[in-house]
Amino acid sequence: MPSPSMTLFHSPSSPFVRKVMVLLHETGQLDRVALEQVQLSPTSPSEAVNAQNPAGKIPALRLADGSVLHDSRVILDYLDQQHVGDPLIPLQGPARWRRLSLASLADAILDAAVLIRYESFLRPPDKRWELWQEGQQAKIERALQQFENEAIAELACHFDIAAIGVACALGYLDFRQPESNWRQRYPQLADWYAEVSQRPSMQATQPPA
Ligand code: BEZ
Repeated sequence: MPSPSMTLFHSPSSPFVRKVMVLLHETGQLDRVALEQVQLSPTSPSEAVNAQNPAGKIPALRLADGSVLHDSRVILDYLDQQHVGDPLIPLQGPARWRRLSLASLADAILDAAVLIRYESFLRPPDKRWELWQEGQQAKIERALQQFENEAIAELACHFDIAAIGVACALGYLDFRQPESNWRQRYPQLADWYAEVSQRPSMQATQPPA
């Protein structure tokens, strides 16, 4: 087996890293990427990550030539162009923009959920701002409602960039908001997620217990 030519800065609890890992599984590219484990948060940055990505964020992917890609969307786009199977990001036409917009809405769920996590876990209790957290949670609920009402059939038809994003977003809600009970409010999403979460790519990338 050839040795990996790329290095992914990785944390098993990052939902953005999980998207990249799921795509690697789905496209048969796992053996091309070595994982470098890092631990970081806004208040406890990783020097190793900062040296690769000035924004201090993961995922970051170092390529064979030493250049570094960062932001999960950029990395997913790059990796989707490195395999010979059907692309998980449509190459052109309305499908491309629709699937990328759905993926972007899934990322908005993640952005809001990660901010809530930081606010409720990292910020000292006397400095927390409930109204701000409610605003983030409202974004999550609007996005979930939109997936429930308008995108279930589209998600179900192909486990692609959009479906990977939504599946990782729902997985992160289960991980960091186990009390949120989203399945009751969004039953179609719950049924869809019950199915896709059984995929080997999702099983192999579950956040830590
Ligand atoms: C988390 O542990 O929730 C987390 C880790 C890395 C990035 C975002 C979230």
